[in-house]
Amino acid sequence: MNRQDPIGIFDSGLGGLTVVKAVRERMPQEDVIYYGDTAHVPYGSKSQETILSFTRDALRFFLSHNVKCMVIACNTATALALPEIKAESPVPVLGVIEAGARAAVRASQSKKIGVIGTPATIASEAYTKALRKLEPSCDIYAHPCSLFVPFVEEGWLDRPATAMVIEEYLRPLKMAQIDTLILGCTHYPLLAPKISEFLGPEVRLVDSASSCAEELEEILKEKELLRPEGEGSETFFVTDGAAKFAENGSRFLGRSLQAIKFTPSK
Ligand code: DGL
Repeated sequence: MNRQDPIGIFDSGLGGLTVVKAVRERMPQEDVIYYGDTAHVPYGSKSQETILSFTRDALRFFLSHNVKCMVIACNTATALALPEIKAESPVPVLGVIEAGARAAVRASQSKKIGVIGTPATIASEAYTKALRKLEPSCDIYAHPCSLFVPFVEEGWLDRPATAMVIEEYLRPLKMAQIDTLILGCTHYPLLAPKISEFLGPEVRLVDSASSCAEELEEILKEKELLRPEGEGSETFFVTDGAAKFAENGSRFLGRSLQAIKFTPSK
């Protein structure tokens, strides 16, 4: 492993592109290899065994591409597979949950913090545990929002139905008077304007992408793995549907995607 090696960023599909964007903005000199397991998305409704096995495939893929570190950009995979993958990996592995929890504790005044995510992420209580570790006295209101991922995948960011679903899921959090909400899923930042419209400007929305990029930079610096200069590249691998990935991916990345390659899933 050396500074010139690429950073591996993994997600169940498209959503991790929000993390690619944050990493590229912070460290434009780094090469990024993205692995989107589009053949198996969504992870949010799957069991821990299955998610762990898919995440192991991603680690194997990255190691065969000589990455210097692996970022698990998927909240569900972080919640259900991070400790095992960290223990098995010869390169540093970083998830998104600790970074998100830290940003939320920093942002919250009242320490009434809401968390939304996929059913698997919420059931794992990974965010609750991470928040409690940082701030034992905080009140946490965690809710799964299963319909948000299909809405975002469909590009329904601003439809009347989207506003209705947001209201239905988030009403209890609004009633609980949270002052901070963790968007604990790669897809939810795209719904942020609508979520904010419903919760009001006094509720801070925290997404882990930028905090994760910040933490990654610190880790690379500390391990003397940060590339000092140059212009980085990005390569995208998906396990299915490269054309659809290119079409929808631009929504997440905020620009068009180049060089999408197919890699078969195990
Ligand atoms: N990437 C997943 C997450 O952040 C959302 C999509 C899925 O369910 O696979 O939890």
